[in-house]
Amino acid sequence: MPEESALEQLLKSGEFLHHLDIDRKTADLVFDRRTIRALYEFMKHVSIDYIDFPISAGKESVVFKAIRERKPVVIKIYKLSTLRFSSIWKYIEGDYRFSRERIDRSNIVYIWAKKEFTNLGELRRHGILCPKPMDFHKNLLMMSYIGTSASPAPRLKDADFDAQAVYEEIRSAMLRMYRDARLVHADLSEYNILYHRRKPYILDVGQSVSREHPAADYFLDRDIRNIVAFFAKRGISTDFESLSRFVRQVSSTG
Ligand SMILES: Nc1ncnc2c1ncn2[C@@H]1O[C@H](COP(=O)(O)OP(=O)(O)OP(=O)(O)O)[C@@H](O)[C@H]1O
Ligand SMILES: [Mg+2]
Repeated sequence: MPEESALEQLLKSGEFLHHLDIDRKTADLVFDRRTIRALYEFMKHVSIDYIDFPISAGKESVVFKAIRERKPVVIKIYKLSTLRFSSIWKYIEGDYRFSRERIDRSNIVYIWAKKEFTNLGELRRHGILCPKPMDFHKNLLMMSYIGTSASPAPRLKDADFDAQAVYEEIRSAMLRMYRDARLVHADLSEYNILYHRRKPYILDVGQSVSREHPAADYFLDRDIRNIVAFFAKRGISTDFESLSRFVRQVSSTG
């Protein structure tokens, strides 16, 4: 099998996993055989020069900075081993955009990558700051890198910023996401927003659903509560009702 031997060659060359040697545990976790194959195919297809370093290694995904044509990009790898069918199915089955795909346990993670790719595109189309989706393949997603040459942008949770200005930016991003892109983030919090060049960037939209999803209202309420709780701690005067009215564009008089 030529593909197999090319894969073996690549692995043996050490070039490809060179930077991962610093974090063997991460590499072992992520790079199951199917993922290595997918990564190899992807790297060739989109001409990635090399994987620079892991930015984040979480429960469900690992995010790497990679170099492509000498510029930084991000590759997000959804873990085949831990993404549970039951936990992601609810975000797919009620979303008419994806519910007609042929889905089973073996390909649901692939739909997830495609869903995040599609959602990022929708956000960008409506002027909401987020990484630019570049390509996807199986359980891998390539997007633009948010950060400087020195380091990736910090999450809002770890950043120093002008709370009032950033609250207003996020409020307006939430409105545009709901009203114009017609999507609900469904995991919005200070963990999924990066702070870069004085602006908040929305991340992690694999689970984001269309407004028509039966649980969209429930997900939106939860997002609003997270944002209110975070900014209230930062001294901003806000509450669930007012942010909800703003995002849903319900006039306060009725
Ligand atoms: N385009 C990007 N540019 C810079 N950093 C990024 C980018 N995308 C993700 N990150 C970093 O990787 C982290 C994890 O990404 P993300 O929130 O999309 O994954 P996740 O599914 O929440 O992963 P986990 O389940 O591992 O928490 C982010 O908190 C952020 O620090
Ligand atoms: Mg996240």
